[in-house]
Amino acid sequence: MMSENKLNIERELLSYLPEKNELIGNLVSSMEYSLMAGGKRVRPMLVLEFAKLCGGSEEAAMPFACALEMIHTYSLIHDDLPCMDNDDLRRGKPTNHKVYGESCALLAGSGLLTLAFETVLSDKSVRLNSTEKCLAAAKVLAESAGAQGMLGGQIIDLESEGKQVTVEHLKIMDAKKTGALIIAAAKLGCISAGASEDEIKAAISYAEDIGLAFQIVDDVLDVTSSTEELGKPVGSDNENEKSTYAALLGVDECKRISAELTDHAVNALSVFERDTTTLREFAYYLLKRSN
Ligand code: IPE
Ligand code: IPE
Ligand code: MG
Ligand code: MG
Ligand code: MG
Repeated sequence: MMSENKLNIERELLSYLPEKNELIGNLVSSMEYSLMAGGKRVRPMLVLEFAKLCGGSEEAAMPFACALEMIHTYSLIHDDLPCMDNDDLRRGKPTNHKVYGESCALLAGSGLLTLAFETVLSDKSVRLNSTEKCLAAAKVLAESAGAQGMLGGQIIDLESEGKQVTVEHLKIMDAKKTGALIIAAAKLGCISAGASEDEIKAAISYAEDIGLAFQIVDDVLDVTSSTEELGKPVGSDNENEKSTYAALLGVDECKRISAELTDHAVNALSVFERDTTTLREFAYYLLKRSN
């Protein structure tokens, strides 16, 4: 199921990229390079699964799923820039700025951010959903990516480098920098499907917990994995003196907390009438992942 979904998502992502021509070819290639570089496609898969769980269709939710993956990919391109985390490897390949240069990487990230809104408000998206649903989806994307969401988390992350911070501070930072887009995934699936208030609440609760667990696992992998397996440079957080759960609490405590969050996330699924096996297994796959 998961690999089939992944292929569908990747085919659709490609279809939304602008045509290349002599004038903008380099920019489009740079956008395509990062968008199609692989990646687990966690966020779009969550959009599709929540849509189906709430009685919607994968086809209608797909433009929302693609838009979210575009925003995620933009956040990674900018996250890797020398002025941010200064990393040279992403998704097993040289980072965007290493291949296309910093200026083009900056524009490619911005290009993917704007393409996300083009996608969610496209004729196809409106035809498959409705104007109201597409507007609601655009609002969720804007709020979750912006200063209150992912970008807010990124500035907290940068400003926490080299500092002693509390667990409470880390929780707020991670809920924003990583949690916001994962919560957006749940909301977008619900919007496309026209989910009930109770379903939306449960979906958000699941996403909040797996979102935090996801970043804690990411911090642990930076310590315990290998660059080859991870597809990005291990030890990067330590080098940047990042304030992370792993640095503050140690690997074992992180494993305990992320497992607890995952169990709690899975419990929230009991509200749904349809089969939640996929989302339950997905939560444990994310906990046990090696990259
Ligand atoms: C990496 O996200 C950045 C974080 C929010 C931890 P992913 O681990 O989902 O990266 P890809 O998309 O699979 O490359
Ligand atoms: C990144 O967190 C979160 C976003 C890109 C919004 P990290 O900086 O830990 O992500 P990786 O480890 O580089 O993927
Ligand atoms: Mg970062
Ligand atoms: Mg980083
Ligand atoms: Mg990381």
